[in-house]
Amino acid sequence: MGGISPAELSESEESYVETIHSLIREHGYARVADIAETLNVKPPSVTSMLQKLDGQKFVNYTRYRGVILTPKGKSLAETLERRHQALKRFLIMIGVSENTADKDACEIEHKINHETVEKLAKFVDFVQSAPQTPPFLEHFKSYYKTGKRPKQCRVKVEKRKIN
Ligand code: FE2
Repeated sequence: MGGISPAELSESEESYVETIHSLIREHGYARVADIAETLNVKPPSVTSMLQKLDGQKFVNYTRYRGVILTPKGKSLAETLERRHQALKRFLIMIGVSENTADKDACEIEHKINHETVEKLAKFVDFVQSAPQTPPFLEHFKSYYKTGKRPKQCRVKVEKRKIN
């Protein structure tokens, strides 16, 4: 996995790469006007950012011709996508609504360290691939609602010790 560490690019540069990636995926191309609309910025800001990202070899940008991601840009977009999905799945797992989880994942993904996101992703995989929903998750949901631990989860640690 590896990829680009969060500190290497600014949050806004990463958002551009992410936006270009998803526009290309949806429409087959990314135009300045569409990028501007998606990110809620003015077209001239888009143009200057595209020139900057072109200089850093994340995109190929030719004026009036649109923009494509270079292999380096694609790999960054994929790293961001993985982070986004891992964070979103984790947030949904603890009971956050899908909409909020999606928005917050997009905020956090630019700041979080690779190590943290890898462990979160593994944790979510581990929990979701379990043969049945682990009891602690159900307990947590009820604890969140009522503020009380459900009965089955109040057993003292000493009693649980087998040897
Ligand atoms: Fe995102």
